[in-house]
Amino acid sequence: MRSRSIKNANAGSVAFNPMDRQTILIVDAESDFLEWAAHQLGTPTTQVLTATTSDEALRIFNREDPDLVITETHLTPFSGLELLLKVRQRNPNALVVLTSAFGTTQTVIESMKLGAFDFIRKEQLPFNFKVVVDAALKAQAEMRNATTFKPQLTVEEHQDSIVGKSAAMQQVFKMVGRVSHSDAPVMITGESGSGKELVARAIHHYSQRSSKSFVAINCAAIPEQLLESELFGHEKGSFTGATGTRIGRFEQSHGGTLFLDEIGDMPLSLQGKILRVLQDGVFSRVGGNDTLKGDVRIVAATNKNLEQEVADRKFREDLFYRLNVVRIQLPPLRQRTEDIRLLAEYFVQKVAAQKHLPQVKLSEEAVRVLEGHTWPGNVRELENTIQRACVFATSEILLAKDIPLGKSTPAEMMPFAQYSIGTPPATTEAAIEVLLAAAQVDPDVQLLPWLEREFTLYAMKTTRGNQVRASKLLGITRATLRKRIERFVITKELAVP
Ligand SMILES: Nc1ncnc2c1ncn2[C@@H]1O[C@H](COP(=O)(O)OP(=O)(O)O)[C@@H](O)[C@H]1O
Ligand SMILES: [Mg+2]
Repeated sequence: MRSRSIKNANAGSVAFNPMDRQTILIVDAESDFLEWAAHQLGTPTTQVLTATTSDEALRIFNREDPDLVITETHLTPFSGLELLLKVRQRNPNALVVLTSAFGTTQTVIESMKLGAFDFIRKEQLPFNFKVVVDAALKAQAEMRNATTFKPQLTVEEHQDSIVGKSAAMQQVFKMVGRVSHSDAPVMITGESGSGKELVARAIHHYSQRSSKSFVAINCAAIPEQLLESELFGHEKGSFTGATGTRIGRFEQSHGGTLFLDEIGDMPLSLQGKILRVLQDGVFSRVGGNDTLKGDVRIVAATNKNLEQEVADRKFREDLFYRLNVVRIQLPPLRQRTEDIRLLAEYFVQKVAAQKHLPQVKLSEEAVRVLEGHTWPGNVRELENTIQRACVFATSEILLAKDIPLGKSTPAEMMPFAQYSIGTPPATTEAAIEVLLAAAQVDPDVQLLPWLEREFTLYAMKTTRGNQVRASKLLGITRATLRKRIERFVITKELAVP
């Protein structure tokens, strides 16, 4: 990229100055169209260059380094998509907008994959032209002035490590170090997504048990009737379906660590049996008379307020005191804003390494946007946001506009796709098309959970947060609805804006 004078030395402000001179290259086989477009976009500060073939366009691009290229897909001698590819090979930060009279899903996906800034259908162009061009030029200006910072860590060094420099997290690290050598039970509390499982794994990793297994079981995810047999195993014939003897998680984790996740959701009947293991180190399989001995270190976690659960008689007090010998409290992400930059930087590297994507850099503006969010889903939400942003990034630098915050509907999650300018998809078919397109771009998109979340949110919105009516509308029990609300982090503000 040729060097440019820094137009706005005041790092941080979005440096789009309309007085700057901009160059736009428009490529289309139709000279009528070029004339119309040049008329639309030409201003005293905007120079419009035109080309009717792709090879001419490439020559002009190489010579003039325009701020923005707007190209039709149907071109000779090579297509608009190829032009996009060549232009971005030469300058990975080049901004290219594709247009086409026949914007098939395939072309839209392809162009976004190749890094187009946007795709506009020809018939929408008259309404959106200026909006798109302004957005592109603004992004270009932001990118030129973006101050990026050097990553301080590498993923290899920090594989599965816990990232954090806030005082609160330093405290957590110290606790992990202190308790790992002992066999005392540990209770980890904190909101969903705040890193409880990661901490549990760290405790195991740094203990003398690290060569043995770490076994996790989510007490909230397993139906009550099955949980006991999952934990302690069962003898053949102990209940319908118990066709053979089966060992449970307690036996599996012998010598190692058993992580009881969401222990606040454990039924009272089982709590007594856990207490027995903690006190005497013994248990029995379901339907078995033998008393088995186990050598297991227990680490438990919950996002509930266990003191309250004890007061409400939903959690046994004696078990609570047994488990609460060592307590590690994970602060929500919004209370440790100073960790956000470090975490974001870490996730950017992690995504690049795992998904074989080119490594992007975070702009200061992007970091500020991240730091300004309240993160109801905590670190998990931040990680997902970064993953998504990296997949959809159109340049080497992640800009503020690339951060998909609070954008959960399919149309909004496909930035710059054909619907992002106009209204979201009006029909179910259109929405599904966008979903499928997103799934092709991002292999990790899971359609059913996504739809589930959309429907849950829809039900909560239409009933204005009335859980009884919402669960009826969805045809699920209220308890199931509550679990969904928790899982999908549907906050009050989202449901009743
Ligand atoms: N401090 C941290 N550093 C790096 N990654 C983290 C950190 N905290 C959480 N994560 C990541 O966020 C996600 C959610 O963490 P998890 O431990 O499953 O949360 P919880 O069990 O509290 O719901 C995981 O992918 C985890 O690796
Ligand atoms: Mg968890």
